[in-house]
Amino acid sequence: MSDDQDEAEAFRALLRGLRVPHAGELPVFDPATAPDAPLPLFRRWLREAAEAGEPGPHTMSLATVGADCRPSQRTVMLHDADERGWHFGTHRTSRKGRELAERPYASLAFHWMRSGRQVRVSGRVGEAGREESAADLRGRSPAALAAALAGSGRQSEVLGSYEELLRAFEAAYERAEREPDATAPTWTLYVLEADEVEFYQEEARRRHVRVRYRRDPGAQPSGWRRDLLWP
Ligand SMILES: Cc1cc2nc3c(=O)[nH]c(=O)nc-3n(C[C@H](O)[C@H](O)[C@H](O)COP(=O)(O)O)c2cc1C
Repeated sequence: MSDDQDEAEAFRALLRGLRVPHAGELPVFDPATAPDAPLPLFRRWLREAAEAGEPGPHTMSLATVGADCRPSQRTVMLHDADERGWHFGTHRTSRKGRELAERPYASLAFHWMRSGRQVRVSGRVGEAGREESAADLRGRSPAALAAALAGSGRQSEVLGSYEELLRAFEAAYERAEREPDATAPTWTLYVLEADEVEFYQEEARRRHVRVRYRRDPGAQPSGWRRDLLWP
């Protein structure tokens, strides 16, 4: 066998040997106890992930679609989840920002490994507006403000050299110190108004529980229809 084949085989063996790590016993999700609407359950699961010591429980994968119908994903932070929807911030001029302008639909995925849980949220995405976007940035750390100032209008563009980025950040750090209320013109708060939210709870013998909520104006009292799905 060639070195390349050995390496390929070792890589496959590594993947086969890997297991999803849980922190001890998995929680039991009884679908009969699920609330009528998804938001309270989402908030509870996020809080429980944080309490279980899940690293970055508020990080999520955000999938968007371009005008060419090709999907793309990246990790972003959840800034809030309320009756309006799931909030995140980014630059309007980035790839995802441009894709959202073209096709205002997205899907979010959270994976909380320690508790064996996954949540998927999808729906229409809208911009929260200039004032709310500026307030979102003001509420973040000076380092996050500096990164937003440096990346304004540039995120997802080709970078000539890493030195160029270092220079832009130096200027942005100074400005963020001097002007904590500075605004990054392209920074935008987005709100995904969910029409479907799905909760997945792993079970030790793979009898996983999936509960899907779909918006349904006829469903009383919450306006959400709830179904179990095959895992
Ligand atoms: C843990 C983590 C959190 C991130 N959070 C954000 C975020 O909240 N907003 C953002 O614009 N980019 C965030 N990023 C960077 C994005 O994943 C992505 O690289 C960037 O937004 C450009 O994406 P795009 O070219 O698809 O638009 C984060 C990356 C990581 C690894």
